Amino acid sequence: MCGIVAYVGPKDAAPILLEGLQRLEYRGYDSAGVAVVAAKALKIRKVKGRVADLAAAVPARFKGTLGIGHTRWATHGVPSDINAHPHPSADERIAIVHNGIIENADALRQRLEADGVTFVSETDSEVLSHLIARTAKETESLEEAVRRALKLVVGTYGIAVIDAERPGEVVVARNGSPIVLGIGEKEMFAASDVAALVRYTRQVVHLEDGELAVLRADGFSTFTSDARETAKEPFTVDWDTGHYDTGGYEHYLLKEISEQPDTVGRTLRGRIDDRFHIAHLGGLNMDARESRSFRRVKIIGCGSAYYSGQIGAQLIEELARIPADAEPASEFRYRSPVVEADTLYIAISQSGETYDTLAAVQELKRKGGRVLGIVNTVGSAIARECDGGVYLHAGPEVSVASTKAFTSTSAAFALLALHLGRVRDLSPADGRRICDGLRRLPEQIKEMLTQEEHIRELAMRYAKDAAGMMFVGRVRGYPVAREGAQKLKEISYVHAEAYPASELKHGPLALIGPEMPTVAIVPDDELLDKNLTTLGEIRARSGRILMVGHRTADQADDCIVVPKNETELDPILLTIPLQLFAYHAAVALGRDVDKPRNLAKSVTVE
Ligand code: F6R
Repeated sequence: MCGIVAYVGPKDAAPILLEGLQRLEYRGYDSAGVAVVAAKALKIRKVKGRVADLAAAVPARFKGTLGIGHTRWATHGVPSDINAHPHPSADERIAIVHNGIIENADALRQRLEADGVTFVSETDSEVLSHLIARTAKETESLEEAVRRALKLVVGTYGIAVIDAERPGEVVVARNGSPIVLGIGEKEMFAASDVAALVRYTRQVVHLEDGELAVLRADGFSTFTSDARETAKEPFTVDWDTGHYDTGGYEHYLLKEISEQPDTVGRTLRGRIDDRFHIAHLGGLNMDARESRSFRRVKIIGCGSAYYSGQIGAQLIEELARIPADAEPASEFRYRSPVVEADTLYIAISQSGETYDTLAAVQELKRKGGRVLGIVNTVGSAIARECDGGVYLHAGPEVSVASTKAFTSTSAAFALLALHLGRVRDLSPADGRRICDGLRRLPEQIKEMLTQEEHIRELAMRYAKDAAGMMFVGRVRGYPVAREGAQKLKEISYVHAEAYPASELKHGPLALIGPEMPTVAIVPDDELLDKNLTTLGEIRARSGRILMVGHRTADQADDCIVVPKNETELDPILLTIPLQLFAYHAAVALGRDVDKPRNLAKSVTVE
């Protein structure tokens, strides 16, 4: 959702900025730009298109040792050269890059235009450059100019600002959109995500909302919005550049799907206790008494994170017998939820930066709710906001569509459900059964991945020419069906609907016919017979059926047979073939698999 990067130091800034933008391109990829300062003048290059297009447009003479860069996901104004960032002020003294949304941009624009400022772009962000240029004329420091300008702004931002008259510093500020500082040897960096920094430094500092930082080659200072200096403790990130390479795979998505035996293994590592058949989750910051005190569990997240929350709710209800449900964080935060003292709230996020989820967590905290996070990105905003939680340790997810974070979140929920169950009524024998099942998962995922060629062939036959596809499942299978439909539509653009299999005859059965094939999630569980009956009903309407389950069945035209685990854990393995199915459908249709149209990873705007 827009990526920003900044550099100040002894080196040529442009190659560093371009490399950083390349790493941030997953956040937005409809236009990109860079600005540097040299000889007290701004140089700016920005283009509609990808970072590679920008790199081709930056001339060799584009020199300067301080600069900012941006990769855009459009919110206000179409993707174009003009709407691309950085935005210069009218006097070409200030340049800014912005991630977020300025809600009062129209009002500010009118005021500035009334004062004679001419706007060149359609973006909300451009107001920032003009506001800062105006205050810079009256203030002694760029930092103070930025602070004063931001006081007039309503909305969210992560910004980086440079001033041609002060060629030794970059000012960055955060409110709702992430900013992380990277500390180098006599050089400083800033970016929306550590991905842009790890090639240069692993010493980082996260800015909090309302904070502003001044970066100079020899260090940095951070301040609150009312100019009080804040003390920051740097921490070392353990992700390195290798995590951000395709590792010989054609796409990040296939790499991340293939990594799942390891990533699920890392989520589980050190957390299964085979002696007492419990889970060790020290990060929850809760003793057994507190773990027993909750009477309800409410899970929030967005998109695929929400679907993994549905899997989590099912696991918690089954293993811990606590009523649990999941809801999109984006809905939850807007409906003024009743926050109950005996409810445990759980927020899920791969990036840890999704604005809707973060805002929901903040609302819960304001109302005194106890919130745990199941988060992949260590030190991210959601992780910092929560009272405790479980880190996934899945490594960075680069492809826009979530895969390994989804399975790791589901595995983390299994651990949490085991923990909550074992402090309640889950027997040691059932605890042992789940521990053993969890231990089998990485090997079974590996086994599942060996069916890739079969699944590729099915994707060609089913999805390539389909008018649309139906995904159905019951209870544990329903969130799996939702995630399967989500993967297919977001990366292949094939229309896909997901329904509980039990709901088909209440409406969507009307869609079924030869041109609308069904993917049916049919695990070997207590609902097997009911699911097979549904397949019969689809068949009777000439619908083609691809069944994903633990056996073959006559009612289906084709089957993908998934290794069987404990029934409660089945959803994790059932998800893997659907990821491969979507991937190969997208490749067959010639889609931009890692960067699907209109989307971006880390949705840091509302
Ligand atoms: C889908 C997908 C999105 C994310 C959602 C939440 O493949 O990736 O639906 O799951 O935007 O993102 P995080 O988990 O970063 O909060």
